[in-house]
Amino acid sequence: MFKQMARNADHQVIYLAQAAGEPEASDKPSKDETMGVKQQEISSSPIFSPLQPPRRYLFGPGPSMVHPRVYEALSKPIVGHLDPYFFQVMGDIQQLLKPVFGTKDGVTTVLSGTGSAGMEAAVSNFVEPGAKFAVFANGYFCDRISEMGKRQGAQVVRFEKPWGKTFADEEAAEFIHLEKPQVVAYVHAETSTGALQSGNTICAAAHEAGALVIADCVTSLGGMPVNVDETGIDIACSCTQKGLSCPPGLIAEEGIANRWERHRQCHQIFVEAIEAMGLRMQVTKGQRIWTLNTVCIPDGVDDAKVRGRLLEEKSIEILGGFGPLAGKVFRIGIMGPLATEDHVQFLLDELKKSLSAEGYRPQPFPIA
Ligand SMILES: Cc1ncc(COP(=O)(O)O)c(C=O)c1O
Repeated sequence: MFKQMARNADHQVIYLAQAAGEPEASDKPSKDETMGVKQQEISSSPIFSPLQPPRRYLFGPGPSMVHPRVYEALSKPIVGHLDPYFFQVMGDIQQLLKPVFGTKDGVTTVLSGTGSAGMEAAVSNFVEPGAKFAVFANGYFCDRISEMGKRQGAQVVRFEKPWGKTFADEEAAEFIHLEKPQVVAYVHAETSTGALQSGNTICAAAHEAGALVIADCVTSLGGMPVNVDETGIDIACSCTQKGLSCPPGLIAEEGIANRWERHRQCHQIFVEAIEAMGLRMQVTKGQRIWTLNTVCIPDGVDDAKVRGRLLEEKSIEILGGFGPLAGKVFRIGIMGPLATEDHVQFLLDELKKSLSAEGYRPQPFPIA
């Protein structure tokens, strides 16, 4: 309707008079014809100025940093969802996801949605109302999947452990043999605690009982092996904004094994440095997620102040714990483009400074 725009003193965009060749004011629709919206209101309503979000180092549990190639791809022209080009790209993505998930013949598919949409798709497609749904519950996202099962009308049975603990093979198998469920669910990488749950025995026991297994691989996919085929997972769900932080083409470029190794090495460097500072990891060695580290907050240190200083002074985001781990751990993600030795070193230096400013003095302890 209006062809020209300008900014007023408050930098709001305002519409200027109609451009040449447009109908005269008298030809414009009356107030009634504009459905009651006054012309004055239309012409003075602001258009938001371009977004300028702060640049952060996303060392939290997700979202992780986005690779420049992703930004480049996002700026490309949109195509319709029935366009042949769309099918071609969709097909490529499905193929490229296979090695990332560790499956040869499994069906990989992409949904527009977050990790929870993937969980929801898994539960609502494979857990029938009235079915027995066995959940290994040791953190926040295990509770979320239980809740989804309940809403689906399933009979949810839970094997519960304190947050941060994992399930040993024997007890996991015993639970399944006892309950004889139709579907079993576990969280491979529990982001609320930093604990990694092995799935081999769970899957074997579930299959013996004739059950399907759903695994939430949201925080592991792209940063560490998920091994769907080898583990025996029937339905694995994940998301793009954690270990992937880039389009599938990029992962293929780096090589998934190289990518895992890069994340493993960064995790190792991080843990060694953390322990050398006298800090402790929340999760027992061997049960830790490479992409998401939970570091115990030392006594007397104000978790929120340490995190606040990092964010305000260095634009570094790390997160705290929640639920039973509130105030007890930092949750530090080292994923995607930030999973390099230099970035880890930068984070460690700044974390050390922020802890010192809060009065923390390293007290080295013998590494178990
Ligand atoms: C293990 C796990 N499962 C599921 C989700 C849900 O993913 P989203 O936040 O993308 O819905 C998350 C998110 O952090 C997660 O860490």
